[in-house]
Order: sequence, then C-alpha cells, then structure tokens
Amino acid sequence: MPVAIITGAASGIGLALSRQFTEQGWNVTLADVDVLGGQRAAEQLGDQAFFHKTDVSNWDDVASLYKKTIEKFGRIDYVAANAGVADFQSLYEKNEGEPQKPNLRTIDIDLNGQIYCLYLAAHYFRQNGGDGGTIVFTSSNAGLYKLPTNPQYAAAKYGIIGLVRSVAPVFQKENIRVNCICPAFVPTGLAPEFLLKVMPSEHITPMSTIMRAFDNFAKDSSLVGKVAECSQGNIFYREQVEYCDESSRWHGEESSKLWEGAYN
Ligand SMILES: NC(=O)c1ccc[n+]([C@@H]2O[C@H](COP(=O)([O-])OP(=O)(O)OC[C@H]3O[C@@H](n4cnc5c(N)ncnc54)[C@H](O)[C@@H]3O)[C@@H](O)[C@H]2O)c1
Repeated sequence: MPVAIITGAASGIGLALSRQFTEQGWNVTLADVDVLGGQRAAEQLGDQAFFHKTDVSNWDDVASLYKKTIEKFGRIDYVAANAGVADFQSLYEKNEGEPQKPNLRTIDIDLNGQIYCLYLAAHYFRQNGGDGGTIVFTSSNAGLYKLPTNPQYAAAKYGIIGLVRSVAPVFQKENIRVNCICPAFVPTGLAPEFLLKVMPSEHITPMSTIMRAFDNFAKDSSLVGKVAECSQGNIFYREQVEYCDESSRWHGEESSKLWEGAYN
C-alpha cells in the first residue's frame, strides 16, 4: 500500500485529504499540533491511519514524524505539506515606546516548516528503490496576488512557490516530484467566524476542487514544478511571470552552468 504524510490533518483541507487518501487505499500519517482533533480523525479513519503530534516549525518534531511513519508503514510515497496559519501579529501596529521584536511565527510555520518537510521527504523518497515520491505544498492564491490583512502569510505563500519552481527541476532528476496548490477561499477552520458568515457563496471554492488537485499530483507523474491555482470548480496551472527581455530569459534558462560552477 502506498504511504502518505499529511500535515495540518486535524482540520479543513488536511482532514479532507486524509479521508480521500484512506478511501483510495493509502496508509496515512496524520500530523498536527491539535492532538485531540488529530487523534479523533485517525480513529475515525481506522487501521490505515495513525496520528503523530507534530509542530511543523520544530525540526525534531518533523524528523520524528518521518521516522515514525517509516517504523509504522515502511516507506513514504507522498507528502502533503499542508499545515498553515494566518498572521499572529499586525505589521501595521504603531508603537508608543521602543518597538518590540515582531512575532514571525507565521513564517516559521508556513515557510520554514515546509522546508523541513521537503528536506526530509527527499531523504526518504531516495530510499524507494528509484521510485522517488511526490511532495505537494499548500500555498495559496495569496502567494500569487496580495493579502494586505495577512502580509506575513502572503510572504510565506509566495516563498513556497519560489521554492517549488527552484527545486523541482533538480529533484526531478531523482524522480522526486515537487508541486504546490494555491486554493482560493475554502471554508475551513483557518477563516475567522465572521468571514465564514459574510463571504458571498459565489466566491467560495469547494473542497472537491482542492481534492482533485491533490489527486492529480498523486496519479500523474508528469506533473512537476506545477503551481495549481484552484478557483471555484477549476484548476489552473500557473506559469512564472514572463521574462522582461532576452537577457532576463538567458539568466533564467541558460546561466545555470555558470551558477553551478560557482557553487560546486
Ligand atoms: N481555507 C482556505 O481558504 C485556504 C486558502 C488558501 C490556502 N489555504 C491553506 O491550506 C492549508 C490548510 O488550511 P485549512 O484551510 O485546512 O485550515 P484549518 O485551520 O482548517 O487547518 C489547518 C490545520 O493546521 C494545523 N496547524 C497549525 N499550526 C500547525 C503547526 N505548527 N504544525 C502542524 N499543524 C499545524 C491546525 O491545527 C489545523 O488542524 C494552510 O496551509 C492554508 O494556508 C487555505
């Protein structure tokens, strides 16, 4: 049976994905900081699922998540690096006295934690006898456009897209596929209660579109370095911005040998 790790699995997108994968016959490790929710979800999903308490911003937790998955299921084929949170602190706050160090925990979880997940996924995918594996990050449409209420969140989600586009062609050589999805608004635990009440129904993206995007990445190994924007019922594979001129294109497409010489 193929094996998946899903982070942020106690709620919303991660929970729906855990259900979809177990229904399709996968073994799944559910990872989350929410112990009660995670344990409850794993119990409901049965023997194919187990829960491991994980704060994705903590390296030791993430390393232990992968180790325990190997101990339990023997291999790892797919990682949905999905956990995410909104901003903890407004960058627009005005200080009366000396400014205090801002709370950057959103970046720790939404970006740094995702890099831990990638680094470990590559390590364990290499143990799959050449079959490699797939990692899919949950970025956001806030990683493509703007979100003034949550600028740290937007920065992290843009960061994931840059990460995916940069590493995907390199990991592809080892049969490791790196992709991400960018959901528009999906009603989950992430949104404040008020927003859930007032969001116009025509601007809500159904969970089924998000599940289809994850499923495509599980089933179609030709999808590599893709940024799947999910809006309403549609999935759009978004390309990077156009090169501004020929020199810019040369730097992006043809200068890699020079860079490799410099960094090797
Ligand atoms: N819902 C949307 O509209 C939407 C849109 C774009 C992107 N996203 C992204 O989708 C992903 C899933 O969010 P969701 O909408 O299902 O929200 P959600 O709040 O329902 O689920 C997120 C889960 O992540 C867990 N989590 C939080 N911090 C964690 C940490 N440090 N380590 C491990 N788990 C942690 C939470 O406990 C929760 O169970 C997030 O990355 C989010 O940014 C959501």
